[in-house]
Amino acid sequence: MYNISVMVSGAGSTLDSLAYHCYDETDGIMNGMVSITSVLADRDCGALKIAEKWGIPKFVLKKSDFDVCPRTPETFKYAWSESLFEMAGDVDLFVQAGFLSLLHVTPEREGKILNIHPSLLPKYGGKGYYGRHVHEAVKASGDNVSGCTVHVVDNEYDHGTIIAQETVDVNSLETVEHLEASVKWAERMLYPRAILNFLQKQYK
Ligand code: GRF
Repeated sequence: MYNISVMVSGAGSTLDSLAYHCYDETDGIMNGMVSITSVLADRDCGALKIAEKWGIPKFVLKKSDFDVCPRTPETFKYAWSESLFEMAGDVDLFVQAGFLSLLHVTPEREGKILNIHPSLLPKYGGKGYYGRHVHEAVKASGDNVSGCTVHVVDNEYDHGTIIAQETVDVNSLETVEHLEASVKWAERMLYPRAILNFLQKQYK
């Protein structure tokens, strides 16, 4: 059994889907193989209620409640990130699910954190490209294809090695809302498969 910790900042629909795929005995893609042992949040958010619903231990570390001495942007980011990671204890993988803070990823943690992004990276990634902003940009561009990307997290937004992608046909979707819903649907299937494949390759 692999143990993962899920990192959140938002409504928690991704966490809900991951928990379903861990614990549903009929349809769960990761059932019997992956367990979510903690949820880590950088703020109060709806995802904490989802953690409660599934009985998963949750931890919140707000930046506003944290300090380090001496305080520089670099020491703060490093100390805050490590303190958050340490709350999860010993896990095989950290999985971001709508987590909005940029972490400091030390060499020891490289390849141990995944994220899912609602576009075909490297397009529409980086600072400011989150939530509906991504889909608005895709629609405005006239691109025919969008989708979602699972990638390894490094020290830049939406930048690390891409491990899986799924495409969505933009032309058949009239509005930004339709595109967003369709990409979310694709994410629900892609992420659990990508997490399981990654864990099995990493720890074979
Ligand atoms: C996900 O759909 C994913 O694309 C992105 O953030 C969204 C989070 O939504 N990384 P939620 O908080 O899981 O509902």
